[in-house]
Order: sequence, then structure tokens, then C-alpha cells
Amino acid sequence: MAVRIDGKAVSAAVRARLKAETEEFTRETGVVPGLAVVIVGSDPASQVYVRNKKKACEELGFYSEGYDLPEETTEEELLSLVKRLNEDGRIHGILVQLPLPAHIDENRVIRAIRPDKDVDAFHAENVGHIMTGDYRFLPCTPAGVMELLHAAGVPVEGRECVVVGRSNIVGKPMAMLLLHENGTVTLCHSRTKNLPEVCRRADILVAAVGRAKFITADMVKPGAAVIDVGINRTADKKLCGDVDYDAVEPVAGYITPVPGGVGPMTITMLMKNTLSAARAFAAETGKHASCGGASGKKD
Ligand code: GUN
Repeated sequence: MAVRIDGKAVSAAVRARLKAETEEFTRETGVVPGLAVVIVGSDPASQVYVRNKKKACEELGFYSEGYDLPEETTEEELLSLVKRLNEDGRIHGILVQLPLPAHIDENRVIRAIRPDKDVDAFHAENVGHIMTGDYRFLPCTPAGVMELLHAAGVPVEGRECVVVGRSNIVGKPMAMLLLHENGTVTLCHSRTKNLPEVCRRADILVAAVGRAKFITADMVKPGAAVIDVGINRTADKKLCGDVDYDAVEPVAGYITPVPGGVGPMTITMLMKNTLSAARAFAAETGKHASCGGASGKKD
């Protein structure tokens, strides 16, 4: 029987801390952290994420603006909105929900976001900071995974960590965060040979493949911590992760459920980044902020 890592509970504890920090920060500086969330098109999953992001802003006392743009929005229109948000002093964080419709160049849009407002940490400048470990923003989902491991008391240093999936949003930055905590990291993908064997080496197995129940019991070392980043729908429309939970749970030492595992943490980390961005803004504009950024540089 694995210990079930409760992402909702960990997320609630982190949010309570962020709420108290935000109150103190706003009292000291007069600055209210502001987040703009932009969505283009009507992907139902994206709409749910965006609604939850707005709710989290209200809960923490942030200012938020939501832009729900039609599918036909042109790249130039989106870029001009980003430009306006870059220049808006009330907005400290800008999030453009991905994926964007096919006619818009995602990279061009990400590059247009001011790096110090890029609370997703997707801009190449912030990706570079993640590589070197002196990050101003945490990559939200991987940072949420690290919080869950810490909360469950799972050590990373010196342990075999296997990440399945090499996306820019999760897999690659996940590997970096585990590496910064001195894990021995293997990053797997669709061309990896003997994937079950490689996964079975893992003390910490992170599944970020985007395929329902992809990780089966025979891929898990007894006692391993299994972290499921996937959000998929089964044929009967039920939400499920990348891990075959019922089969893996008896083998693993720790496991995150879907829903209620990594998902709630991602938004909480986004809030943490927005507060960091507001602190940096206050410090720069001389609003007497005691600056406590997100940086977690390790040597
Ligand atoms: N789409 C899926 N996850 C994310 C995320 O963390 N940020 C953005 N901007 N889009 C996403």
C-alpha cells in the first residue's frame, strides 16, 4: 500500500502561506499582485484551467484580468494585447494559455512576453535561468512536483529519478529541478529503448507523457515514489492520469492521485511566481518591499 500524496492538502497549506505573505506585502508596499490570463479559442480543458486560475487570484487577494479571445484572433492581435499587458503597471504576471490555435506561432507569442512578467517561465531567458539554477520564476508544474516530494518527505539527493516525457512545459524543466536537488536523472521519451526496464530503476518516477494509464505496475520498482502529471480522459470520459493507479498503488511507496495530485499544485506555483514578480516590481519602483523572490539557487 502506497502513501497517497494529497495535492489538495499540500496546495491549501502553501496557499495559506502565500495569502499571509501577500497581505503583508500589500500592506507594506501598496502593491496588489496582478495576473493577466489570456486564452484563445474554446478548448474546454483550457477553460477549466483558466477559471481555476482566476479563482485562485481571488482567494489570495490578487488583482486579475481575464481575456477570453475568439478562435479567429490573429497573431498580430494577440501580440498587441501582450504588448499592452507588458506595459501595464497593475499587471505583474502574464499567462497565455497553451496550446494556441494552429495559425498562431506559439514561440513568437512567448518571446513577446516581458521575461520579468513571464510567470510560466516559458521565455527562453527564463528557461536559461532554470538551466543554470538561478531562476527568478519556478516552472509551475515541476515546482509543484518538488513541493509534493518535499511535503511527503521523499529525499531526492543521490536517488535515481526517471522522468517520462520531454515536453518544454514539464519533462525538461522537471529533469533540471531534480538535478538541482542532486538526483541522478534519466529523461525518457518515445524513442527510449527498454522503457519498462529504465522506469524500474527509479526511486522517483515522474510520468508526464499525456497517455492514459501508460505507466503500468511492471514499470515500477517496489517502494518507488510515483508522481503522475498526466490529465487524460478515458473512453467513458473519466479523468485519469498517465499512471494505472489501481495497479501501481500496491507496488509503489508513494503515489499521487489524478485528480487531486499535481494539478492543484501547478496553479499554486503560478500564484507564487506572480507574488515574486510583484515583489520585484515593487523593489524596482522603490515601493519599499523586502524582497523575497522565488530564487532557489543551489551550488
Ligand atoms: N497549458 C497546459 N499547461 C499550461 C501551463 O502551465 N501554462 C500555460 N500557459 N499553458 C498551459
